[in-house]
Amino acid sequence: MQHNPTATAIAAATLTLFLLTTPTTANNITKILEKYPQFSIFNHYLTVTHLAADINSRQTITVCVVEDKDMSDLLSKNLPINTIQNILSLHVLLDYYGAKKLHEITNGTALAATLYQATGSAPGASGFVNITDFKAGKVGFSAVDSPTTDAFFVKSVDEIPYNLSVIQISQILQSAEASAPTPSPAEMNLTSLMSKQGCKVFADTLSNSSDALKAFEDNIEGGLSVFCPADDVFKQFLPKFKNLTADEQTSLLCYHGIPVYQSMSMLKSNNGVMNTLATNGANKFDFVVQNDGQDITLQTKIVTAKITGTLVDEDPLVIYTVDKVLLPKELFKAEAPTPAPAPAPAAAPPKKSKSGKGKGNYASPPQPESPDSQPSDQVADQKGDAGFNGGRFVAAVALSLWLGLLSP
Ligand SMILES: *[C@@H]1O[C@H](CO)[C@@H](O)[C@H](O)[C@H]1NC(C)=O
Ligand SMILES: *[C@@H]1O[C@H](CO)[C@@H](O)[C@H](O)[C@H]1NC(C)=O
Ligand SMILES: *[C@@H]1O[C@H](CO)[C@@H](O)[C@H](O)[C@H]1NC(C)=O
Ligand SMILES: *[C@@H]1O[C@H](CO)[C@@H](O)[C@H](O)[C@H]1NC(C)=O
Ligand SMILES: *[C@@H]1O[C@H](CO)[C@@H](O)[C@H](O)[C@H]1NC(C)=O
Ligand SMILES: *[C@@H]1O[C@H](CO)[C@@H](O)[C@H](O)[C@H]1NC(C)=O
Ligand SMILES: *[C@@H]1O[C@H](CO)[C@@H](O)[C@H](O)[C@H]1NC(C)=O
Repeated sequence: MQHNPTATAIAAATLTLFLLTTPTTANNITKILEKYPQFSIFNHYLTVTHLAADINSRQTITVCVVEDKDMSDLLSKNLPINTIQNILSLHVLLDYYGAKKLHEITNGTALAATLYQATGSAPGASGFVNITDFKAGKVGFSAVDSPTTDAFFVKSVDEIPYNLSVIQISQILQSAEASAPTPSPAEMNLTSLMSKQGCKVFADTLSNSSDALKAFEDNIEGGLSVFCPADDVFKQFLPKFKNLTADEQTSLLCYHGIPVYQSMSMLKSNNGVMNTLATNGANKFDFVVQNDGQDITLQTKIVTAKITGTLVDEDPLVIYTVDKVLLPKELFKAEAPTPAPAPAPAAAPPKKSKSGKGKGNYASPPQPESPDSQPSDQVADQKGDAGFNGGRFVAAVALSLWLGLLSP
């Protein structure tokens, strides 16, 4: 049987990426690079593109940096920040490559998945970097879609084995795909972006609801974050969804968007009550964003959902996947964990409330949720929680491999 070595290598690398993206205690790439003034521009752009936060949230990662003087070529092109983000994300390899490992690559060449692949912005396999250990001891780097080897390993900058390796390469990698102009907000097709990447059921439902779709689309330009329940999760919810009135359906869908761009790091540092697209005067339809270790949770009074991945992050639009349907208390009161009916005031009169609070819904901190308080259809398939959403066909290949591994 004939194997395509490139496809096999890509699948293996993507599989590695699935296995290694569980976030843990973080390094701080900004702080590490601050020690080296020659990388200050690269470091600056890691921050403004929000890539630093993404790097910090991962383990087993390699950042290929270039000196300030080698940034001028990239910066002279006056690229929009989204394009710079794509290009720099190609310089973040989702595996650990220290100097030693680079010179010991089996068969002389390896394909490394990058953050560009992981964020779903890379078409096809363009989010992979080809690392070649040439005979003369030189190690070359090139984007898979580049016909030439553009950059060479210069030196190891910092190594925290086997979590974070920072290496200097001779220049910015050339990739036609990563350098391609990103669509302007007006050109972004929300539902087709979602459909392609594991959020088809929610996207189809949204397409069917013209009011909700309009609310989402009208907000893209000014900033929009969408929390898309994964397909398996939303599919299970559909019978309940169909039971809602048309207005309630619109509200439920709108409850999954907030009218502001919030990158992962912004969400992490902006814990608190968040208004949604469904918020309308007295109908609060809000939820609470709360960090839980490295995870970010969205707490309604009914469920606590977790952000499990990023489908699209192209400021002003970001689309995340979440592991549960967000159920607003405004619609699902009846399903809230009903406390046992308070015993009728008997002999002892109830104590007076100490604080004057308690009137508004938000005077008290969000209730921690008991594990058995979720409606049964909200118990998401935790296997899918690798926190990664790769691009298109590569993801499909890897997913089938991954599922193949899981099944006995
Ligand atoms: C590397 O990551 C692991 C898992 O997150 C952690 O336990 C370990 O302390 C880290 N090692 C270093 C040197 O930071
Ligand atoms: C990382 O380090 C930078 C610079 O030292 C600091 O401004 C930033 O807050 C740190 N980030 C985190 C998440 O600690
Ligand atoms: C290295 O090459 C040998 C012989 O061509 C092949 O059998 C082996 O699978 C290759 N290893 C990797 C990791 O590609
Ligand atoms: C990787 O680069 C080397 C050297 O240019 C080349 O021989 C090899 O075919 C490339 N592999 C892939 C998968 O592009
Ligand atoms: C988005 O794409 C879908 C299907 O690909 C299409 O039906 C719809 O008209 C598109 N919407 C816009 C605003 O272009
Ligand atoms: C779309 O809406 C129609 C009418 O409201 C309904 O019959 C149909 O099942 C909906 N389709 C989807 C995919 O939600
Ligand atoms: C839909 O509503 C009916 C009537 O209120 C109820 O009996 C049924 O259980 C509901 N179905 C679902 C899936 O919630």
